[in-house]
Amino acid sequence: MKLSFAHSLSMIALAVCVPLAWSAQSGPGLKKEDFGKTSDGKQIFRFTLKNPSGMEVKIINYGARITSIKVMDRKRKFDDVVLGFDKLAGYLAENPYFGAAIGRYGNRIAHGTFTLDGKEYHIPLNDGPNALHGGTTGFDRRVWDAKDVSSAGGPAVELHYLSPDGEMGFPGNLNVTIRYSLGDKNDLRIDYTATTDKDTVLNLTNHSYFNLAGAGSETVLTHRVMLAADKFTPVDSTLIPTGKIQSVAGTPLDFRKPTRVGARIDSKDEQLKLGKGYDHNFVLSRSGDLMVLAAKVEEPSSGRVIECFTTEPAIQFYTGNFLDGTLHGNGGVYRHRSALTLETQHYPDSPNHSNFPTTVLHPGEDFHSTTIFRFSTE
Ligand code: GLA
Repeated sequence: MKLSFAHSLSMIALAVCVPLAWSAQSGPGLKKEDFGKTSDGKQIFRFTLKNPSGMEVKIINYGARITSIKVMDRKRKFDDVVLGFDKLAGYLAENPYFGAAIGRYGNRIAHGTFTLDGKEYHIPLNDGPNALHGGTTGFDRRVWDAKDVSSAGGPAVELHYLSPDGEMGFPGNLNVTIRYSLGDKNDLRIDYTATTDKDTVLNLTNHSYFNLAGAGSETVLTHRVMLAADKFTPVDSTLIPTGKIQSVAGTPLDFRKPTRVGARIDSKDEQLKLGKGYDHNFVLSRSGDLMVLAAKVEEPSSGRVIECFTTEPAIQFYTGNFLDGTLHGNGGVYRHRSALTLETQHYPDSPNHSNFPTTVLHPGEDFHSTTIFRFSTE
């Protein structure tokens, strides 16, 4: 069929008008929608937080996961900059913690074993000889209660989960709340709070996979990364810290000046070989200070930038070395090293290293930690 000139014009007009009309309808604020049910019939919701400049963050109460973050590039084009799925099925199926809340213990516990107050605890192993990200069923696979807590400061959603005493082998009933708030300055703030009724260990983080050129883009090797870390914790062949706290100086783990991810990732460095790339805990030089820049990532083609601020003492910088192109999501195929994570955290395996900052939480204490991801363009 041949289209008339007038018809073509009206098609173009429609293509231009539809997104405009849509964005006019969905102004800043919070929207809640059904996102399907888990296999045992629990209702999952998806919350969309939007700020006045159009930045949009989507969160689901399955695993308290961030499923999408849409931000502008330097030409004011919006793209989703995190790996995720637009259907619940993607999250229910096997996937490497896309956007998830991680707990009770982020990263690895050697042999899934630790001793607390003289008693030995065992977490089910799910990463070779170790327990990773809270054991076989971590917070990333729990259904959280969720409520809209938006305020004059902007849209916000609060998720709550009660992890019962003994779940995944951890002691104490642990009440955990995670609040995601989107500010006017394109800052996504994550506040974690927790209380326990028995001594326990805790290491909470978020496992968003960023690609600032847009999810589904080939690699993150051209992203420039700055990590405000003079030291890191070297690992053994199972990615458990050896216990040393080593200077980054003179190693390919020195990101104190912005450096391309790909510049040194395949160099003959033992730590990079063990991690199959970057998969290391960087010790922040100004630990615990939310006002100090902890990490910065810039993507030259889009001009997009993330600045990360945190009260946590460290960041796991991981370059998607285990992504292998088998998963397909929002942005296309998720290839090897096509995303990076900035998991703000305590050091891995801290319960087994008395020289690492403690991760023990006692009854009567209020745990609180905050991480901010601020998006901009250069
Ligand atoms: C963390 C770990 C990695 C990997 C990913 C998930 O970043 O440090 O080794 O397990 O989670 O695939």
